Amino acid sequence: MNKLTLLIHVFLFLITVSAALPANDKLTEIFYKRNQCTCTTAYANFNSSPSSGPFRGFIAFAQDETGCTTIFGAFNEGFDQKCTYDFLIQDECGKIEFNITNELDVQVTNDGGTRAFSHKFDYINLDCHSNGILLAKCNSGPYNKRQSFRSGPNFVVRGSGGSTGIQGIH
Ligand SMILES: *[C@@H]1O[C@H](CO)[C@@H](O)[C@H](O)[C@H]1NC(C)=O
Repeated sequence: MNKLTLLIHVFLFLITVSAALPANDKLTEIFYKRNQCTCTTAYANFNSSPSSGPFRGFIAFAQDETGCTTIFGAFNEGFDQKCTYDFLIQDECGKIEFNITNELDVQVTNDGGTRAFSHKFDYINLDCHSNGILLAKCNSGPYNKRQSFRSGPNFVVRGSGGSTGIQGIH
């Protein structure tokens, strides 16, 4: 075999091998699927409306192209250092979809606000997968009739002292 023939053989061999490797395509496909989310953003504004309760602040949601969502924000009013607070994401029936209290780890300051908080959630997406919080639908009937007038998902702050604030995630 001269060099050229050898090269041609190697070349043909490589073509055959790559054509016979569906695993390659699978990997590409998985990688692509994981990285094709849109960079959607949303927010919950606690600066007005009676439903904010005593709380004033702003929470932002930012989905990246892998479908992870960073939730960040800060409050400047309504908190008491003697209380504990739950931070919840509800679907439009009032059912708790996510309790993100531990991950957000919100620190209450002595002036009734909070420090800025931020956490990236790999299990929360906004609209990339069917369970995205912006796509949440009330499937199993109203859990909480008092909140059934609100459409869409909500962000909820619930204090151990009894104060509650709820705002839509848009
Ligand atoms: C949310 O999680 C916190 C921390 O784990 C817990 O103390 C609290 O009871 C939970 N609240 C709800 C409504 O599930």
